[in-house]
Amino acid sequence: MSDSPFVRVAALSDLEEDSPQRVELDGTPISLVRTEGEVFAIHDICSHANVSLSEGEVEDCHIECWLHGSSFDLRTGKPDSLPATRPVPVYPVKIEGDDVLVSVTQES
Ligand code: FES
Repeated sequence: MSDSPFVRVAALSDLEEDSPQRVELDGTPISLVRTEGEVFAIHDICSHANVSLSEGEVEDCHIECWLHGSSFDLRTGKPDSLPATRPVPVYPVKIEGDDVLVSVTQES
């Protein structure tokens, strides 16, 4: 096992502003979002139903679920609007040159 839990998942230059990109890391679906000069990694599945958040819209550091419109804060994963009430996991991101690295190590 590696000491570093961070794994390269994408090239920074491939990420378009406000255009989420779905990647998988160790079987975990992640939506990568480049917005407002930062890159965020949020679990790709809505906490309300089995819907891919990467197909939603990004605005104001939030990603909106396209099915029922809940908006999740990309920094915390918390929903700001119903019907979702539970947060979606968010993951730490590191940028090294053109590499985007994410760690999905879970606390348990
Ligand atoms: S499935 Fe996402 S808000 Fe309902």
